[in-house]
Amino acid sequence: MSKLNIVPVNQSKIDTVNFNDLPFGTVFSDHMFSCDFKDGKWQNPTISKYEPLTLDPSARVFHYGQAVFEGMKAFKDENDAIFLFRPEDNFERINKSAHRLAMPEFPKEFFFEGLEELLLLEKEWIKKGAGNSLYIRPFVIATQGAISASPSEEYKFMIICSPARSYYAGEVRVIIAEDYSRSADGGVGFAKAAGNYAAQFYPTSLAHKEGYQQIIWTDAKSHEYLEEAGTMNVFFRINDKLVTAPTNDRILDGITRKCLIQLAKDNNIDVEVRRVSVAEIKEAAKNGSLKEIFGSGTAAVINPILGFKHSDFKHELPVMKDSYATFFKKTLNDIQYNITEDKHNWRHKVSK
Ligand code: COI
Repeated sequence: MSKLNIVPVNQSKIDTVNFNDLPFGTVFSDHMFSCDFKDGKWQNPTISKYEPLTLDPSARVFHYGQAVFEGMKAFKDENDAIFLFRPEDNFERINKSAHRLAMPEFPKEFFFEGLEELLLLEKEWIKKGAGNSLYIRPFVIATQGAISASPSEEYKFMIICSPARSYYAGEVRVIIAEDYSRSADGGVGFAKAAGNYAAQFYPTSLAHKEGYQQIIWTDAKSHEYLEEAGTMNVFFRINDKLVTAPTNDRILDGITRKCLIQLAKDNNIDVEVRRVSVAEIKEAAKNGSLKEIFGSGTAAVINPILGFKHSDFKHELPVMKDSYATFFKKTLNDIQYNITEDKHNWRHKVSK
């Protein structure tokens, strides 16, 4: 592999952090990983102090949004062993996203060596116990200064880490989109392109004004089919059956989503991956067969959606005693924290 240059900080800032009060993504660990692409290749990577970057104001990332990212988590078990969860999937996905944004793919050995060395350095930042994790944010930005609208020839790949508890602090109710869209056919919806998220901010702020926290995105053509919920994939429970939309070029191939489909099969829960229409969900809400809606994602894990609005139709979901959301969250967390058997080899132990 490359020569990974590690420059540890002299003094950790961990003692200044209140781990009981961690609004998502606001506190960052001591170090960051970075690697530059120039002269047609990735240069030697570095792990050094987490600190601001100096970039040319004309860097393409500021003007054309040439940027992609990933979301991962590291967990600690009761014996202080550290685990990543399905990191190969994140590695493959960031390169798929990069490819779509005309960015160079990042080498696998750089990714894994950089990530594991960084986590070993930050092991005190990974706290044990339910709900604790270290959220890991790999990302790539176009750094070349020059504002011609064409792919950059220089990039920076970075990994930063943020100790995390829950993503959504309060209750989540959603508006089903009727006008705005998150993504379109042939677009970049399947990629973790930075702009996909920025494009959601304005419609979501309108939802906030109406007292809803998120939007369930529908297909851009007809707005008749349900696709994603905010920054998450979305599942519907109709009676005891679970339904979720198939991935396509508009929908993110979520890793938590894939896990839930597998866990449903493992636990004899009927699961259908097919288009889900707004009309079907409204009908199920009216006739009482709609039991649950929940979102799934790395940051949020599984987030129950308590109610929705579509046009002038409003619906509150019933309060379920044995909800699938609670069952899947516990089943998934038990695998992530090395409490139960990992029969699909999703855990990846981080060790020297
Ligand atoms: C994740 O779940 O990791 C995501 O990428 C969502 C993010 C916008 C917080």
